[in-house]
Formats: sequence, structure tokens, C-alpha cells
Amino acid sequence: MKIAIIGSGYVGLVAAGCFAELEHDVLCVDNDATKLAALARGECPIHEEFLPELLKDYRGNRLVFTDDLCGAVAASEVVFITVGTPPGPEGGADLSSVEQVAREIARGVVLGNGGYKVIVEKSTVPVFTAGWVRRVLTMSGAPRRWFDVASNPEFLREGTAVCDFLCPDRIVVGVNSERAAEKLRAVYAPLTTGAYYRRADAIPPPDNARIPPPLIETSTRSAELIKQASNAYLALRVSFINAVANLCEATGADVDQVREGLGADARIGRRFLRPGIGYGGSCFPKDLDGFRDVAAQHGCDFRLLDEVKRINAEQRERFLRKVREALWTLPGKRLAVLGLAFKGGTDDVRESPAIAVAGRLLAEGASVVAYDPAAMPRARKIFAKEAAAGQIEFAEDAYAAAEGADALLVLTDWEEFAALDLGRLREALRCPVMVDGRNVFPPARMAEEGFFYTSMGRPAAEPRRALKVKKAS
Ligand code: UGA
Repeated sequence: MKIAIIGSGYVGLVAAGCFAELEHDVLCVDNDATKLAALARGECPIHEEFLPELLKDYRGNRLVFTDDLCGAVAASEVVFITVGTPPGPEGGADLSSVEQVAREIARGVVLGNGGYKVIVEKSTVPVFTAGWVRRVLTMSGAPRRWFDVASNPEFLREGTAVCDFLCPDRIVVGVNSERAAEKLRAVYAPLTTGAYYRRADAIPPPDNARIPPPLIETSTRSAELIKQASNAYLALRVSFINAVANLCEATGADVDQVREGLGADARIGRRFLRPGIGYGGSCFPKDLDGFRDVAAQHGCDFRLLDEVKRINAEQRERFLRKVREALWTLPGKRLAVLGLAFKGGTDDVRESPAIAVAGRLLAEGASVVAYDPAAMPRARKIFAKEAAAGQIEFAEDAYAAAEGADALLVLTDWEEFAALDLGRLREALRCPVMVDGRNVFPPARMAEEGFFYTSMGRPAAEPRRALKVKKAS
């Protein structure tokens, strides 16, 4: 099938690569000339497993990058809108890019001269957006019988985006006509029939994947709400376990044990119950505000969401208190920071709690030596002023970051951090103090390895053996 993807951001690029993998012909449109040139050269602008390979395999054949939106729409049967919907000034999403793109799509529909098209919103948008897109297209001259507007929210996570796209728990298709439903069923048929997974060259599905995935058909409004409600519920789980972790600390319980008992209930499940310094990223904070905003606009006071947000913000403060408790005073202290991305496996630092915490430490007069396996180029831009003033440095690995530091702070749950050589880290540090905001290490092991170790919702650990005193550097 001929597919156009409008917007080559995170979702757009992953969708483009994956639809090409599913043997569709994809035209990926963007108005950023620099980005298009980089994509045409074969560069992959985001850190995402399997994506560089997909772009390399299909670029120039099944996957073409272009700035000609109108031409791409005219040539396609299904058009996915994947432009950004950043937070607006009043909490809701700013949909001006969607509106602008809808106007241009209308011209493409007219140019297509009667070829029926389904225009699909895939960006995270509030309820009623499909209705607005339909209206903008009609008002911009696209004859109503030549197109339908559908909603097909995307549930991929950064870091595992390609696998999430190709092996989703479910595919949600919000449609208001059978014609549109048929087209979208055909787009996803390689997944829903299981044909893709039988291919010898298929990207292997994760162990727990639900194969083939179900396709859930709903109205466009329900599909829009499913997306916002899903992210809000996941954020709620994270805040819930963070509040439970805090209660564990206050009562001397251990959140790891509590999670085990809680998650073993099939009705609750184990996923999304890891405590930490709070959720971040380009989706949860924005979508929670957006959902709250939509609810308020429609007369529903969804105050539960305010509490989710409050707990999330409080979590960073709790972590900072732990750092102060571990070090007494902060001005002049040298702190090693592991992790700057909003979670492990990505170079994304948008709304990253790690960046916020590092910023607060700098503001309180500490100096920071940071290491992140992927996010340092982006973090360097954020802390350019502090780097120029010598307040923050970026180390080439975790051991270099730890060298001579008064404490080591873990702010992102990168898998590779769990495999670090703890003896080497302890030797590099000036004081064997670690504050782990992501519960990457087991406390008993940290005691064995000679650390003063605090984490989230678990008992603190102290070195089992007497310490060798190090001279100040
Ligand atoms: C999230 C959703 O998981 C996706 O389904 C959705 O498609 C996406 O938003 C989106 O709307 O585009 P993502 O933001 O990539 O995906 O990241 P998650 O893996 O969901 O993590 C979000 C935040 O929650 C991170 O800061 C992470 O560290 C935190 N988190 C997650 C926890 O603190 N504990 C957990 O147990 C899980």
C-alpha cells in the first residue's frame, strides 16, 4: 500500500521505517531541509535499536524522504499525521502544526483527484481532534467523499520503539466509516495475520509479545481517549509506587518485596512499578496535563491527575534531600552523576528528571561530573553555560565520572550501569557514597562492596568492612 507519513520526528520516523519493513511504499515528509538532507545521506537522527538498519535497508526504494507534502498525499492511499503536539501555554497540547498540516493535506486530496484517502492522526492529540481535522480539510476544499479521518494512536516507547511498533500489545484504530476501517486493517494485516512474524528476516519479537496482536476498532473519539488514558494510567502507576516506596522508607519495609507481592496479583501485574526519581520524557508530563485539560473543558474535575503530578514533582525533592543527608553540605562538593536521559536506552533529555536534579545540584553550589551512554551531546547543550563556567564536566565513562568525587548519584536506569565494576567505582570515588535514584543495585551487595548506599524505598546500606581512608585530592 502507498503510505505518506507527515512529520519525521520520533513517531514518524519509526512508523516510516516499520511500514517499509511491512512491505508498504512509504513517502516520509518533513519541512526541515537539514533533517531531510541528513536522512537522505543515511543518517539516523535518534538513538533507537533497529532503526538505522531499517532506514538503511529501505531508504531510496520503499522509503523515500521528501518535502513535497502535497505530492506525497496525492500519491498515497493512507496519510499518517505524525507532527509534534508540544504543550500549549495553558496546559493542553498545541495543535497548530496539526491544523497547518491538515490544510496542506486538503490540497493533496484535491490533487489526488478523487482517489479515496484515509487521513490518520497518529500524534498524541486530545479528543475531538479527528473532528477538527475533518472540518479543516473540508473547509480547505477537500470534497468530503474523497477522504475519511481516523485515529490510530501510537503506543511505542522510546528505546524499544521499533519492537513496540512491530509487536504491539494492541493496535487501536478509531474509525467512523467501514471504508476507512478496511484500509487500516490492510495497513496492519502483515501484523494481525501473523504473516510478518513468519518471515525469516523479521525482527525477532520480544519473549512476552502477544502474537499476532489484536486490532481494536473504536470510534475516533474513543481511540483519542484510549491514548491519553493509557499514558495517564501508566504515570499514575509510577506515582503510586513512588508513594508506596516513600511509605516503605518511613516504616522500614522494602519496596522490592512489596512490589513482588503486589505485582504477583494478576489483576495488578508487575510492569510499571519501578520506583525512582519520577517519570519524565516528552509524553507522560505533557499527556497528563493534556488529559487534565480535556477533562476540565468537558466539565469533569479529574483531580486524581493533579495528585499524580504532585507526587512526581515531590520525588525529585526527596532525592535531593537524600543527597543532602548523605553529604551534609553541598557547596563545593564534587558529585558524579550517572545518567542524564529521562530513562535508560534513549538519548532523549526532554523533561528528564535527571537533568532537573543535576540542575538543582549545580544551583546549590555543587560541581557535577556527568556520564550518560547516549544523552551527553544533548545535555551539553542544556548545560552550555555551566560547562563554560567549569561547574559541570562530562566524563567519557562512569569510572572517569567517579574519579575523586564525594559521592556518586544514579539518575537514569541504564542497563549497563548495573554491570559496572563496583570495586573500581569505589576505588575511584573520594568517598564511597552512592545515592541511587533508580534502584539499580541491591543494597546487600553494596554493603558487601563497601559503599554507604541509599536508594528509593529500601533500607540504606553501610560498608561491612572498615574503610580505608583516602587522602583528599
Ligand atoms: C510512554 C508510553 O510508555 C508509551 O506507551 C507511549 O507511546 C509514549 O509514552 C508516548 O506517548 O509516545 P516513553 O515516554 O517512551 O513511553 O517512556 P516510558 O518507558 O513509558 O517511561 C516514561 C517515564 O516513566 C520514564 O521517565 C521512566 O523512567 C518512568 N518509569 C517508567 C518509572 O519511573 N517507573 C516505571 O516502572 C516505569
